[in-house]
Amino acid sequence: MRPKLEKFVDALPGIQPLKPNKKTKDGAYYEITMKQFRSKVHRDLPATTLWGYNGQFPGPLIEANRDEPVHVTWLNQLPNKHLLPVDTSIHGLDQLPIVRTVVHLHGVETKPDSDGHPEAWYTNNFQETGPIFSRKTYTYPNHQRGSLLWYHDHAMGITRLNVYAGLVGMYILRDKQEKALNLPDGEYEIPLMITDRSFNADGSLFYPSQPDEAAENLPNPSILPAFVGDTILVNGKAWPYLEVEPRKYRFRILNASNTRSYQLQLESDISFQQIGSDGGLLRNTVEMKKIGLQPAERIDVIIDFSKLAGQSIVLKNDLGPNADPNNDAGNIMQFRVTKPLQGKDRSHLPSALSVIPSLKQNNVSAIRYLKLVGSEDEFGRPLLLLNNQHWHDPITENPRLGTTEIWAFTNTTNFSHPMHIHLIQFQVLDYQPFDLDRYNKDGKILFTGPPRAPAANNRGWKDTIEAPAASITRVIAKFAPYSGEFVWHCHILEHEDYDMMRPYIVLDEDKNGEEEH
Ligand code: C2O
Ligand code: CU
Ligand code: CU
Repeated sequence: MRPKLEKFVDALPGIQPLKPNKKTKDGAYYEITMKQFRSKVHRDLPATTLWGYNGQFPGPLIEANRDEPVHVTWLNQLPNKHLLPVDTSIHGLDQLPIVRTVVHLHGVETKPDSDGHPEAWYTNNFQETGPIFSRKTYTYPNHQRGSLLWYHDHAMGITRLNVYAGLVGMYILRDKQEKALNLPDGEYEIPLMITDRSFNADGSLFYPSQPDEAAENLPNPSILPAFVGDTILVNGKAWPYLEVEPRKYRFRILNASNTRSYQLQLESDISFQQIGSDGGLLRNTVEMKKIGLQPAERIDVIIDFSKLAGQSIVLKNDLGPNADPNNDAGNIMQFRVTKPLQGKDRSHLPSALSVIPSLKQNNVSAIRYLKLVGSEDEFGRPLLLLNNQHWHDPITENPRLGTTEIWAFTNTTNFSHPMHIHLIQFQVLDYQPFDLDRYNKDGKILFTGPPRAPAANNRGWKDTIEAPAASITRVIAKFAPYSGEFVWHCHILEHEDYDMMRPYIVLDEDKNGEEEH
């Protein structure tokens, strides 16, 4: 294992927006290449071999404006050998090339052929299949609210390893409404991508090839039911620090970890002012002392350092009252209010932010009860399923284009799952707890309390939501503006890969169901 690493010794890397290769009246055009490269994750750790978009981890920042389309050619120039142990026993993956990738822009509204369907993977240009299969060009129309989106690998059965190797990046979509608010911007608006990783002493990435209690006769390598790293990285550096001025800053925060969720908290009882969630601005600013962040969730927060000159404030991850105080995952990064104020802070922290019409007014065409279930595979490994179906089973979720549905995630396992639906942003209606022991006995759902409304910071637009254990989490969404095949899944990548992901189809009646399988 790696040596003990001192915290807060490396500066937080900034993430610069990428310049488009070309700009035409059809929008901006980018070429982004997946490559293997080496990077210093910490002062005292030898360089780590990673995979990254344009050879960076995080990948380059794409910045776009609402209604100005972006086109990206995503090229795969990765080597033939994977950096990490690949389990080929799942999904019949032994027949496929090991190095396969496909890019999904998480939170985007786009057509299925630009969405990064898990089976639309392609390999590198060193395979016999030839170079034409080593790239794809995707279009993002950007006819949606300003928000922080993020792109990451989504290839079937190997997403957890491709993302862990470094294939992630951020995408900021801006709109007029947000610009009119005069929020902190420029160098005072900072994207923060939080991930956890583990390392070997030579600096290489560590990802186990088998679960801890490996049963006999398990395939080797074998997929794990979950994985948390012991090192917390922000923008690709372990426990970095950031020097700030005594003024307001806006932080666009993403949890891009495979399994780990965080309870973000600032030292000295300082509050976050949360202004946005996955799908952009909230209705009103919400003061938060602690914010839970599941894998794939994003938050938009303002931190006011104006009264903190000379102080250092650590961004903590609250591990709960029983946590080992030596657990390094309790720390994320440090803010040092050491920079002199460059000029008066003229940015605002408005209390009213945006208008969000409630979907509850819509006609609801269907309520789908979707069960999150635990089972076992032929080797006795945990196998998590949605509605007891595997990825390859026929499509069962098939909303009609433009209709509104309620999806009720019924979590019959004893841990949370961050549930994500492609194409749309939803609103959380409520959570209702049920008796899990009773359910395990006879399959009956017996509620143990009334439905509970979401917390104030989860009342905006969301595309990923924690579905707590032994509860029904209800979300409402309008399935538009595109028809065709998308996916929904748990965003714990070890679950998504095996087998907590399902295709779904948005049916367009005018097309006479021709998209149906
Ligand atoms: Cu973050 Cu299916 O995606
Ligand atoms: Cu997504
Ligand atoms: Cu899960």
